[in-house]
Amino acid sequence: MAVVGSVNLDLTVAVSHLPDPGETVLGSEVSFRPGGKGGNQAVAARRMGADTILFAAVGADQFGLDLRTALQAEGLPAGSLTTIDGAATGLAMIVVEGAGENTIVVAPGANELLDGQPLTAQLPQLLSPGAVLLLQLEIPLATCLDAALLARAAGATVLLNAAPLPKVMDPVFAELLAAVDVLVVNEGEAWHLSGQQGAPPRDTAGWQRLAAQLTAHGPRVCVVTLGGDGAVLAGPDGELACAGFPVAVVDTTGAGDAFCGALAVSLAQGRGPAEALRRSCAVGALATTRMGAQAALPTAAEVDGFLTGNGRA
Ligand code: RIB
Ligand code: NA
Repeated sequence: MAVVGSVNLDLTVAVSHLPDPGETVLGSEVSFRPGGKGGNQAVAARRMGADTILFAAVGADQFGLDLRTALQAEGLPAGSLTTIDGAATGLAMIVVEGAGENTIVVAPGANELLDGQPLTAQLPQLLSPGAVLLLQLEIPLATCLDAALLARAAGATVLLNAAPLPKVMDPVFAELLAAVDVLVVNEGEAWHLSGQQGAPPRDTAGWQRLAAQLTAHGPRVCVVTLGGDGAVLAGPDGELACAGFPVAVVDTTGAGDAFCGALAVSLAQGRGPAEALRRSCAVGALATTRMGAQAALPTAAEVDGFLTGNGRA
């Protein structure tokens, strides 16, 4: 499968509570780890055992070299990573509090300059019918649209994690949604995308209905992730829900990426929607039990063991 997206160096500080505006909070551990939604989703797919290519851009700096090394060590070919002279490698400033909740500020740097050119040459050969292309929105929308259209033309399935969600529904985003097979959003993104009529859903059935509504934007299938409460899916065969797996949460950074990577692989492996949803929820849950984004991603064997034990970590 192919992932087109962002890579960032995640600078994470653990704190007792997230700072309010104007407040200074003293943190404890500091870490520098590979992240970025594209990188995280590609590594999630690799750890699930899928042959994966990541198209991404780094700057010509030390962080860029570090990310390159880390991604290569995961088995992701370095040839599809572009180094952009004069740009800085993407940086994410992450603060994680005791219960695992976080705030993230991203300085996209080179990610903002990833264009469709390397894709035009390589994507069509990589994506045969049955293959999956996985996208998120930390790179230019136009690049995502190029990639989606190339994948569509090759008969591949296009999965979009619409995060972070654009603030306004611009025409390129609308075109992208129309070129997507499977859309994955979290609760906030789903609510925003729905046009926010009335009050947000309060239960699983409500989120299922909202997921079904979102397919009107174009995707055949829409998935809404519900954090610790699992996820719902709406598609041509109806609506499904998977309850959250109770785990001891340490750091939720990248849990959504873990979910998306696992969902893309499950679909590429031909798993049905219910099994794919359950597996993806398990991967998302396991990813919250350890610090970091990529560092926390489970292997396929770990997920199999977890599911065989009925979701007890
Ligand atoms: O989804 C989590 C990711 O968002 C982090 O790894 C950070 O780099 C930001 O892109
Ligand atoms: Na984590």
